Amino acid sequence: MMVATSSGSGNAVFLKDYGLDRATPGTVGEALEQTHGALKRADVFFGHGSDSAWDEAVFMLLSALGLPLDSGDEVLAGAVGDDEWATILHWLQGRIIDRKPLPYLTGRAWFAGLEFKCDERALVPRSPLAELIRNEYAPWWAGKAPGSLLDLCCGGGCIGIAAAVHQQNLDVVIADIDDAALSLARENIAFHSVADRVAAVKSDLFGGLSGRRFDIILCNPPYVDASDLAAMPAEFLAEPPLGLGSGEDGLDMSRRLLKSVADYLTPQGLLFLEVGNSWEALDSELAGLPLTWIEFSEGGHGVLLLRAEELPQVTEHLAADP
Ligand SMILES: C[S@@+](CC[C@H](N)C(=O)[O-])C[C@H]1O[C@@H](n2cnc3c(N)ncnc32)[C@H](O)[C@@H]1O
Repeated sequence: MMVATSSGSGNAVFLKDYGLDRATPGTVGEALEQTHGALKRADVFFGHGSDSAWDEAVFMLLSALGLPLDSGDEVLAGAVGDDEWATILHWLQGRIIDRKPLPYLTGRAWFAGLEFKCDERALVPRSPLAELIRNEYAPWWAGKAPGSLLDLCCGGGCIGIAAAVHQQNLDVVIADIDDAALSLARENIAFHSVADRVAAVKSDLFGGLSGRRFDIILCNPPYVDASDLAAMPAEFLAEPPLGLGSGEDGLDMSRRLLKSVADYLTPQGLLFLEVGNSWEALDSELAGLPLTWIEFSEGGHGVLLLRAEELPQVTEHLAADP
């Protein structure tokens, strides 16, 4: 792969500004040093799978070289090919100049310990719901394993597919309103060979799911409020807007969902609804109701658990709101 503007003066300026050599470095260690230095100099935002310039440089190098992500220091003395260095320079330009999240450049992301195909058709996976999947919804789901699960607002499908991979007897529906996101989700279903247990459905919230009931509903809807949306780093502009904002307080979609979700849960069913920073607004809107906000040990916040039997109160409360 060639660097996008390798013959143009713009590219020479870019390389100089970020301390990069066009010539391929002698070793992986030297390439890592340059990549790390460039990312540190650039005022890029980290939060789409890695949280520092170092982590991102390591991920970029290992991806370009096709090495396992758990490689150790022994790879540092290895050689870098000319094409591999050209790829890294190309990704650095995409990252620093275009402000694209790295998973959109490499085409892959990790969620719940699994690899997924990732591109601009859907948000980059980052939901804390991964931890619940790994813990099999304990301690809230007890007894026999759940038989059915809905991943509503599925984007590229990471949540529902990870749930299916994790529990072999689970039947899963993943649903989204966006055709582009669903096409990526279908590729991820094929990638993980779970087409026999995971169905992708186009649906405006529950619109395409009538008559279905699920033991577990996991939902990571758009929930960013207007002020957070206005202040978001440029990296988020590369993501589909349909996946981010949801009205002034970020809760338009969640309110719609809470008013009808009771009809789609089994009697013992559980809803895990992610609302991120909008959790305080939802907590005060539902003040007086016993709410369970999940605490995560791997990071993340703003996930509400509601049991099927608690939902009539929530629906009533929302209906009573002016
Ligand atoms: C925050 S993203 C979550 C994507 C994915 N679940 C994840 O965790 O990476 C929200 C998703 O909700 C979808 N969405 C927005 N409005 C919707 C609606 N009315 N019905 C169903 N899905 C919707 C968007 O297309 C987007 O894929």
